[in-house]
Amino acid sequence: MDPSALAAIERIAGAPRAPYHSLGIERLTPVIGAEVTGIDLSQPLSEAQFAEVHRALLENHVLVFRDQHLTVEQHKAFSRRFGTLRALPLEDIDGEDPELVVIRANAHSRHVAGEAWHTDGTADLEPSMGSLLYVKETPAIGCGGDTLFANMHLALDMLSPALQGFLQGLTAIHDGELPWKGFTPPPGLPKTEHPVVVKHPETGRPLLFVNSGFTSRIVQLAPVESQALLKLLFDAVAHEPVLHCRVRWAPNTLVMWDNRCTQHHAVWDYFPHSRYGERVTVLGTRPMA
Ligand code: SIN
Repeated sequence: MDPSALAAIERIAGAPRAPYHSLGIERLTPVIGAEVTGIDLSQPLSEAQFAEVHRALLENHVLVFRDQHLTVEQHKAFSRRFGTLRALPLEDIDGEDPELVVIRANAHSRHVAGEAWHTDGTADLEPSMGSLLYVKETPAIGCGGDTLFANMHLALDMLSPALQGFLQGLTAIHDGELPWKGFTPPPGLPKTEHPVVVKHPETGRPLLFVNSGFTSRIVQLAPVESQALLKLLFDAVAHEPVLHCRVRWAPNTLVMWDNRCTQHHAVWDYFPHSRYGERVTVLGTRPMA
């Protein structure tokens, strides 16, 4: 591996972390993801506990909470500690609660949500800050339906300094119609221009902010150049396992991801078995360079 990429991994993996007092943290990889223990999300968290969960999210980007027994209201109450919940028009969702996105796959499914690398809702002017997916049913085959996550700080850092420099100042179009290729998209889907390199709004750390789910072109480049560069960047995320963690679900697992600095990919390897979860999304802010 290139020495500058190794240095980037070392910087992220070895960043100093203060100890936790109200919960346990077991990292999934040196660069992304952690299992959180010693916490019951069905109960209101104290300010001190919430501050540690929040810090754990900023440090690890993906948090896995196992053996949680949550009603919809408890799932939402925990999610609301991070901000206002996103409500979707009822006609756009499967279910009757505008704040709850049902994630469902079974023998009748012809596609599943999130089955490609993406960051949620980046065609919005203000994409979400995070999502909290509570999986209740996992495939009866006993495995499958994992979710992959990628660290987009490291994705940027592992590019050569010359390419990182070139990306600074570029902007890209994120198009809500892109996931509808081959289908008729509903009217009024958003389309927004965001910087290609943005800063995390809480930590200030830079990250690569393009994803194959929504990013259609880089504004300052000729179409053929934009296509080639986006392919290179998408491949850099999809083909570099160092960036990834893989969450293996069990019933009653809740995973929260920081949507501002990650991508994810739901693996559909369990057809015709079923998987069921409920996702709550927290509103975010406009990504800034
Ligand atoms: C998604 O939000 O993209 C779905 C993730 C999953 O089903 O694991």
